[in-house]
Amino acid sequence: MSNILTLERVETFISQYHILLGINFEAKAGEVSVLLERDGAGKTTTLRTIMGLTLASIGTIQLFPDLKKQGGNLSGGKMQMLAMARAFVNDSKLLLIDEPSKGLASIVIEKVIEDITKMKKHTSIVLVEQNFMVASKIGDIFTLIDDGRTVQSGKMQGLIEGEQLKRKYLGIG
Ligand SMILES: Nc1ncnc2c1ncn2[C@@H]1O[C@H](COP(=O)(O)OP(=O)(O)OP(=O)(O)O)[C@@H](O)[C@H]1O
Ligand SMILES: [Mg+2]
Repeated sequence: MSNILTLERVETFISQYHILLGINFEAKAGEVSVLLERDGAGKTTTLRTIMGLTLASIGTIQLFPDLKKQGGNLSGGKMQMLAMARAFVNDSKLLLIDEPSKGLASIVIEKVIEDITKMKKHTSIVLVEQNFMVASKIGDIFTLIDDGRTVQSGKMQGLIEGEQLKRKYLGIG
């Protein structure tokens, strides 16, 4: 299945601080792509960079590349409107969710898992989630970030079974 979002070697500064040093990330239509990282060193910045709220200094971000092809002979403004419309209106929309389980009691977390699982049927999702139980239940694919760089990505099942990866980058298992 083709990507609806691709980040290649993305680097981002916040004022003089070099926060993202090389993020590679993909999201596919109809899937939940989870961004994982042990320390607070760039997950939210990655989401902000995808949205254009924080500008990447290096690298490429491709959102809905198929749409770009289709909209090839439209003006920049119209193409952007088309992209926005497609992002928010029809069923190929993309949701970015930042740590939905943070600070919640476990019974409420179960509800969050249930709700996101329902949303999965209608939309593609990029999920930042530190709680590995939540991430592993909802996620289809994962990207592990360490020190501002993507160190590994793949199918969630691979990470669930990847004891060494979990120990090294998430401090669990
Ligand atoms: N406006 C800012 N000015 C200076 N430094 C910032 C700013 N915003 C974020 N940072 C720094 O950038 C780094 C990454 O922050 P970010 O919020 O992306 O991390 P995170 O992985 O989402 O963390 P958390 O797990 O706490 O949500 C942190 O070291 C943070 O202190
Ligand atoms: Mg954050």
